[in-house]
This record gives sequence, C-alpha cells and structure tokens, in this order.
Amino acid sequence: MKSIEIVNGVYWVGAIDWDLRDYHGYTLPGTTYNAYLVVGDDKIALIDSAYPGFDDQIIERVRSVVDPKEIDVLIGNHVEVDHSGTLPALTKMLPGVPIYCTANGKTGFQKHYDTKDWNFHVVKSGDTLDLGGKTLAFLEAPLLHWPDSMFTYYAEEKILFPNDAFGQHIASSERFDDELGRDVALKEAQKFYGNLITPLAPRVLKKLEEVGSLGIVINMIAPSHGVIWRSYASDIVNAYLNWSKGASKDKVTIVYDSMHGSTGTLAKAFAEGIMEEGVEVKVCLLKDGKSEGTHRSNIMADVLDSKALLVGSPNLQNQLYPTVADFLSYLKGLKPGKLGKKKLGFAFGSHGGSVVAIKLISADLKAAGIDVINDGFGVQYRPESADLERATELGRDLARRVKAL
Ligand code: FEO
Repeated sequence: MKSIEIVNGVYWVGAIDWDLRDYHGYTLPGTTYNAYLVVGDDKIALIDSAYPGFDDQIIERVRSVVDPKEIDVLIGNHVEVDHSGTLPALTKMLPGVPIYCTANGKTGFQKHYDTKDWNFHVVKSGDTLDLGGKTLAFLEAPLLHWPDSMFTYYAEEKILFPNDAFGQHIASSERFDDELGRDVALKEAQKFYGNLITPLAPRVLKKLEEVGSLGIVINMIAPSHGVIWRSYASDIVNAYLNWSKGASKDKVTIVYDSMHGSTGTLAKAFAEGIMEEGVEVKVCLLKDGKSEGTHRSNIMADVLDSKALLVGSPNLQNQLYPTVADFLSYLKGLKPGKLGKKKLGFAFGSHGGSVVAIKLISADLKAAGIDVINDGFGVQYRPESADLERATELGRDLARRVKAL
C-alpha cells in the first residue's frame, strides 16, 4: 500500500472504507479515515488513525515511508472511534509512545480503550511540538466534533489538521480537492456540514474568529475525512462561515411521505406555486431511505441552503408517519432554523378527520428553529381541486415571502 506525500515530509497514510453505507444515521458512498505522517529531522509523528478493522491500511501506508516502529509520537485529535480505532494496535507496537491529546481526549480514550499502558501527553491551546525542522502547534476545539477535539497545525507549511471539521464522507481515489473537483468537494462538504456541524455553528464561528485573531495563516486544510483542501482552502473556510451564519438561497425544500398519494399530491401543488414565482424547489419523498433525496441525511444539504421548509405527513394511528417522525427527530437535533437567518415553514398532510400529524409537525418545526408561518394545511382524505388551488396559492405566497427575506 502506498502513502501520498502532500508536502515535503508530510504524508497521507489514511484508510479508504469503500463499503461503508451508513454511519451514525448518515448514508454515504463510503468514506476515508485520514491519518498523516509528519517526518521531522528528529522525530516522526502520526496524526490520527482509523476505524477499528483498518489497522493494516494505516500501518502499511506508514511502512511505505518509514518502519512503523520509528514513529515517536501519536497525536489524537479526536476520540471518536473512526479516528482512534488503530491506537490499540499502535500502542502495542510502540510501547511507551507519547500520545498527544487534550485533557478531555485523555478521559475519552480511557473510556473507550484499555489505556493502562498508554503514555498520555496532555496539551492545551498554544502548546507546540518540535519534530526537528517541523513544528506542530495544538489548538483545542471543544465540540468540533466532541468535547475532546483539537486541531493540529503544521506551522512551517501552514497546514491545518482539523480532524472532522471541513471533512467530507466520500471514498475516492482522489486525495485533493482539485483532483475531485471544486464543486463536488464543496457539495460533499455541505452534506457533511448539514448532517454533523449545523448545531455547532456558533462554535465554528468562534473558532474561525480565534484562528484569525491569532494570525494563523492556512495554506492547506487536511481533514480526517475526504479530500485535502490545497487549491480551495479559502473556499471551504468561506463556505463554513456562510453556512454557520445561515446563508441560504431563494429555495424551498418540501419533505413528505404519503400513504395513498394524497399528501404527495399536496406537496406537488405547493411546488407548482413556488415554481410559478421563480423560486427553486426540491421535493423529497421519504421512502426507501437509500437513494438520493429519500433519506434524512440526503436532504439536510437542501434544508441548509433553503429559506423555507415544508413537511408533510398523513396521520397514522393518530401519529406521524414513521418516516416523517424519523426525519423530524433528526431535524430537531440539527436545528437548522437556528443558524442566524430566518427559515420559514409549515406543515401539511392528508388525514381521516384528525389533524394530529400537522400539529406534531408544527411543534417539531418550531423546535428545530423554523419560523412556522401558519397552522398547517390539511385535507380530509383526498384533496379536491379547490384544495389543490389553495395549496398552489400557498406555494406562491411562500415563494414571495422567501424572495422578500
Ligand atoms: Fe469522524 Fe467525530 O468523527
């Protein structure tokens, strides 16, 4: 197995997981667990590792550069198992090797692994490690993604290793943004942001401000998932700034499931009205859960860049349809309506006489920070032509409000 030299003396030695299709509720076409070997004149450091079961990829890629037993320092930017799963094998191979991590990192590793023989070296923001001609600096980044998270910065080449931040869940032969293509890389990063980073937006803004105030210049961003940002580093930083401030388009996302087609007919009537006003609309049927636009995690990027969100469900046993309940539970956790810019929305659906589902949707939209603009639009059984005309007009009205935001 091969490593990839990303700059002189720094190598990608990560693992590619081509088979992964679901990762904590996120559907994905595989992913990468990026690890980086930094070879100084005096010491060699390995930044992060991989999910359990991928030890061989990490160790063999390191071996393509140096004997893995020559590693002097392990750096654990993040405890979550997709970045630390190789540490048991590495600490066994390298008895006594120092593991650089935050105080929360030490606690987290102790709760995940048998660490009685691990040699923790706790660092805080501003601490540095001189590898001989290569200096690594550490910046605590709590809750980006977990309380233990930190960024590592290679000062001489101005490379940021931010672990999850700026990542993308893709498995590919491309290692760099310009190889994958700017637009694809940003699209995948937006999906990653929408599904993982959205509730952390205030911390993203604070951290980027801190990086700026410390005068930290970034030439390259080497995250723990996906491609390395070497040509478009400033683009992804700007995208994170914009997403974190709630920047969105004149666009409406409509998410629904339907029992016998009536709720779906309403969804499309809203969409017609929205399109008549020249506003972009995306209609997402929650169905098989795997293909594009039918799974909660495939929809979150659309929600992120929409100024409005409509959610529809039929009543089922006086509850939400299960797929819609799943989506709303996910949405409430991510809270895309609290990103700093208003997102409008309302509920809709067909029912047999009770509007329970519409009430439940409205409550959940509010919990997700959405500005719910009416009590919802319900029809009993099948929508009649007057209902569809009314739905189309509601779509037009919503589109006009979106354009006015
Ligand atoms: Fe990719 Fe928070 O782990």
